[in-house]
Amino acid sequence: MLQDVKEILFSEEVINAKIKELATRISDDYKGKDLLVVGVLKGSVIFAAELIKNITIPCEIDFMAVSSYGNSSETTGVVRILKDLDHEISGKDIIIVEDIVDSGVTLDYLLNYLKARKANSVEIVSLLTKPSRRKVDIDCKYIGFEAPDEFLVGYGLDYAEKYRNLPFVGILKREVYEK
Ligand code: IMP
Ligand code: MG
Repeated sequence: MLQDVKEILFSEEVINAKIKELATRISDDYKGKDLLVVGVLKGSVIFAAELIKNITIPCEIDFMAVSSYGNSSETTGVVRILKDLDHEISGKDIIIVEDIVDSGVTLDYLLNYLKARKANSVEIVSLLTKPSRRKVDIDCKYIGFEAPDEFLVGYGLDYAEKYRNLPFVGILKREVYEK
């Protein structure tokens, strides 16, 4: 696995320190609110787990699964819901947890979907963002790191379902996905 990584961008230590900061901000901002943290499977699971552990106010947790990429490294622009939320969300203050915002297509879709279901508020926390790749302008309240226009793996991010278990975020070597 390691030999397929060109460069480590964010170490586990750096990532976890950033997540603590984000969790502190969220805990302050959502005091007294009916917080529901929604992880987007599967890329956000490691980030979501670390984030939730560091949130100090009461919150509920749920997950959604969507597909927009298949096994390719480019978005198709079509989002499908593979797993929906387990409970009603009307009146809840939702934070969607994503691994990375790339084109923005996935989150744009999810934001509209959850707002239409009468959530009280919907915000986004994403570990990473690639601003140079944005096709849809979306408002992310909480962002961990800005990343270059490269294909990233690790800390939940995959290529063809592999590399999610790397404890850092790194750049995947081109020859891995171009072969
Ligand atoms: P968007 O809809 O184009 O913003 O794509 C967001 C989703 O694409 C993320 O949740 C990831 O699953 C996936 N994605 C985007 N860029 C990368 C990357 O560099 N590595 C791994 N997955 C990525
Ligand atoms: Mg994803």
